[in-house]
Amino acid sequence: MSAKLKPAARVAGNRQDVWTIINEAAAASPNQPIINMGQGFFGYNPPQFILNAAKQALDRVECNQYSPTRGRPRLRKALSEAYAPLWGRKLDPETEITITTGANEGMLSAFMAFIEPGDEVIVFEPFFDQYISNIEMPGGKIVYVPMHPPKEGGVKTLSAAEWTIDFNELEAAITPRTKMIVLNTPHNPVGKVYSKQELQKIANLCLKNEIIILSDEVYDRLFYVPFTRIATLSPEVEKITITVGSAGKNFYATGWRVGWLMGPANLIQYVAAAHTRICYSSVSPLQEACAIGFEQAEAEGFWDSCIQDMQGRMARFNEVWHELGVPYSEPEGGYFVMVNLSKVELPADYPFPPHVAERPRDFKLAWFLIQELGVAAIPPSEFYTEANAHIVEDYLRFAVCKPDDVLETAKERLRGLKKYIKQ
Ligand SMILES: Cc1ncc(COP(=O)(O)O)c(C=O)c1O
Repeated sequence: MSAKLKPAARVAGNRQDVWTIINEAAAASPNQPIINMGQGFFGYNPPQFILNAAKQALDRVECNQYSPTRGRPRLRKALSEAYAPLWGRKLDPETEITITTGANEGMLSAFMAFIEPGDEVIVFEPFFDQYISNIEMPGGKIVYVPMHPPKEGGVKTLSAAEWTIDFNELEAAITPRTKMIVLNTPHNPVGKVYSKQELQKIANLCLKNEIIILSDEVYDRLFYVPFTRIATLSPEVEKITITVGSAGKNFYATGWRVGWLMGPANLIQYVAAAHTRICYSSVSPLQEACAIGFEQAEAEGFWDSCIQDMQGRMARFNEVWHELGVPYSEPEGGYFVMVNLSKVELPADYPFPPHVAERPRDFKLAWFLIQELGVAAIPPSEFYTEANAHIVEDYLRFAVCKPDDVLETAKERLRGLKKYIKQ
């Protein structure tokens, strides 16, 4: 290719990503159709009151035109009111909330707003994969700090709380160039909800070193243990924290691409400026529908039902691991479960394609499950750096936000693992 037609380095990486490999495996499997428990999209619709709101919004002239760049006033007001009891005060909808095109674009806007080339951003492993390219776009340097699974994770089902940060490692990762830290709670893929004590330790380091906290809380309505928002620890912490939310996750509508950032006006102002440059404003009718969703959710009993519903799916799906004697990390939040498959013996002569054979064991496990059982899950070493990939090479991530018949078929197929398990 002529040098002039060459893509920019930031998009030119040619290693196959996990999604391509999993899709390729699914297409090649004799077990069709594949039961897809890999990606975190819902296998069922948002509740009727939210769907109705979207349909009605499409009939209104002003809902089909540009929204203000910071988002529709009705949605910002609805968020301010819905979050007030959780925050301990009402956020100013004019200055402390800005609407984005999903949480993902919100985080890109945050990095674009604050990162200069060479600035460092601390990211915990495993990470949500989009963080990486989003930080690299403005030239940020990522400094990784691994989460450590429980030592007995291969033999015992333990709480996801047992995945821990080594605070000495975290402190050692901080340099004068550390500008931001990305936190994710409830956590994808681990299912950990950071305890108040852990958040306080992170916050103390950030206060001491003037580091902006980007707290990705997209699963904030799905927690099964007490959930603390780091911004609510103290007014000082709130001043350095940007909190990320997602209507896609809250309302089972990941394709709507409505998200938001909340935080102090002097930070949100610049995030909103970056968002305006990136996509000007976000989808109008679906912002309106989300506003109505937030206005009505509490009265509909929606938030409580979300938790009960997902906990039910999680418990029903995980029965199969108990049957098989396979341990997993019991999630404290979110809709992913990390299962430890160290007991599964992969046939020594199994014909893995070369690009899978060279990846860590979890990629081979994922490939094998798709080919032999027709169930797709995600190898989490994709969410670690190469140096730390070994930490999770016995795990696979399953998304349980799927209809009951899908979960039941997945369980039925996964029982086929029995003959490969060494006890
Ligand atoms: C931890 C985490 N953050 C952010 C997102 C993206 O959210 P959105 O779909 O609103 O962009 C996801 C989606 O999977 C996620 O798991």
